[in-house]
Amino acid sequence: MSPLPAVWKLKRFLNIGNERKYKEAIKTVNQFAMDVIKSKEERNDYRTHDDLLSRFMASSWDMGFEDEDRRKFLRDIVISFVLAGKDSTSTALTWFFWLLDGHPHCKQLIRKEFSTLMSSSHHTHPLNLAFDDLKNLNYLHAALSESMRLFPPVPINSRLTVDDDVLPDGTYVGKGWFADYSAYAMGRMERLWGPDCREFKPERWLDGDGVYQPLDQYKYPVFHGGFRMCLGKEMAYLQMKSVVVAVMHEFEIEVIGGGGTPEKMVDPPYSLSLLLSMKNGLHVRLKKRQQRSV
Ligand code: HEM
Repeated sequence: MSPLPAVWKLKRFLNIGNERKYKEAIKTVNQFAMDVIKSKEERNDYRTHDDLLSRFMASSWDMGFEDEDRRKFLRDIVISFVLAGKDSTSTALTWFFWLLDGHPHCKQLIRKEFSTLMSSSHHTHPLNLAFDDLKNLNYLHAALSESMRLFPPVPINSRLTVDDDVLPDGTYVGKGWFADYSAYAMGRMERLWGPDCREFKPERWLDGDGVYQPLDQYKYPVFHGGFRMCLGKEMAYLQMKSVVVAVMHEFEIEVIGGGGTPEKMVDPPYSLSLLLSMKNGLHVRLKKRQQRSV
């Protein structure tokens, strides 16, 4: 972000200031991931366990790596999955619970949907719901998509061009230029979403039978589009649905200071970073639910 590349290059060469801090931070993150891998190797349980890292470890044995290269490969996988998968889903859920508090009608419809699901399934606790059960939560799926339309966890995405190019609309992009798009701005464009684009309306994602209808990824680039699209999209929905169902089953959530009502959505409390975080976090009061049929 420095105005002249020579500034950061000099700092990096001399190992001073934020370049030094950056190098140290990378070392800390790498060490953390390496420790996870080494401790798993010591336990020697990755052939019998089926978590994600165990699977990567088991399959990487046959890839012809030297030991240290294999560990570095696994280290990069651990880091990319933690970075890509943890803060993105928690950011999405933060805005989701904020919006739900400001839209009690939607909250009610979500409760009603999983109440129906629980009564038609043989499971007694939402945490035991299977993949297909969660898949059938159409309204919840729509509400999560709608929440991410207005508050995309990755609000702006950038690409650096490797060569001159011309975009489909005729725009010229030169080699070495940055090309950015804002999923946040696109989610609020009347041209794409109609005159009610500023409203939180999960119904816009449902057909007449209440079945979720996925939309064009270029209209909704929350998980990016085309090449290098998010690999964890389905997993993210699954995780978020499980968390929402488990939390709402157990608690009534009250947002301190009030949630995302239409009035508050005009000037939402975001702070812009790589992710669209909520300024000062989401403060809530949890009340244990007495009667927990759902
Ligand atoms: C709401 C949750 C999530 C959102 C909004 C999201 C969004 C994105 C976006 C925008 C990208 C493209 C980044 C880029 O190339 O500039 C991406 C890539 C990626 N995501 Fe996600 N993500 C989410 C959850 C997850 C989860 C849970 C996982 C894994 C468990 C995951 C794994 C990945 C991976 C591996 C990539 C890199 C794909 C590649 O470069 O080929 N994501 N995600």
